Amino acid sequence: MHTILSGPSGLRPEHDSYAVTAEFYDILQADEDEARVRRLYSRQIADARTGVLDVGAGTGRVTMLALADSGADVHAVEPARAMRTSLLTRLAALSCEQRDRVTVHPHPLDETALDAVADVAVCHNMVGCLPPGIREKLWPALGRALTPGGSLFVQLPPARLPARTVVRRLADKRVGEHIYGGRMTMSAAGYRIRTRADYWVRDAEDVLREHTETFWMWPATRARLTDELAAHGFAPLPGYEESELLAVTLNVRR
Ligand SMILES: C[S@@+](CC[C@H](N)C(=O)[O-])C[C@H]1O[C@@H](n2cnc3c(N)ncnc32)[C@H](O)[C@@H]1O
Repeated sequence: MHTILSGPSGLRPEHDSYAVTAEFYDILQADEDEARVRRLYSRQIADARTGVLDVGAGTGRVTMLALADSGADVHAVEPARAMRTSLLTRLAALSCEQRDRVTVHPHPLDETALDAVADVAVCHNMVGCLPPGIREKLWPALGRALTPGGSLFVQLPPARLPARTVVRRLADKRVGEHIYGGRMTMSAAGYRIRTRADYWVRDAEDVLREHTETFWMWPATRARLTDELAAHGFAPLPGYEESELLAVTLNVRR
């Protein structure tokens, strides 16, 4: 079978990153990350009244928490088709009441026309994936999407380049007769962090298949992100100085 991807002419090109990773993302990382997402955002999300904006929603960890823990509308922004596929599969299993409250936007936030739709925005594990020039487009788009006085919670990226290569093994997961495994290798490459993701599936005797996908990350300190956001009307929220989050509020008068 030969598949042709098509759509109305003039559509923007699809983002095909995460094409390899999407298959392994939830099976290898969901448990640990679900607990982290709950710890980091559940209180903030429960306070949302207008809406929750999940920027770089991936397979939907923050979106699912928002649907469960708040009665507000949810906007999930996810440009990568592979990640969006897992997200939509997850949303398909929800009740109509919950599904009616969530809208999925398939382009980067700065190409998505969202205006004052949320009083809480979350960038979980995504800002480090953006080069500085793209971050500069993200902040004003967040300023438009949030209501005045709304809050933005950003999981901080690595503050600096790794001094040496760092390898992190992901915990093996059994699926029937197969064991899924993975490893993240982070190393400095110029001013960026090269993150190589290796995945494999094995049975009792052999490795059945192996896959690799490489991502780039850009380190940024809390101080630098705070300055960038200040230029777009965001002021730090107190109480987060020691947190792994950067929390800011959108000034009412800009
Ligand atoms: C490392 S993944 C994290 C996904 C999810 N937040 C999680 O932690 O499971 C980063 C996500 O950000 C998305 N992304 C990248 N640039 C974006 C942008 N400009 N606007 C919205 N999402 C973006 C990617 O497609 C990717 O799914």
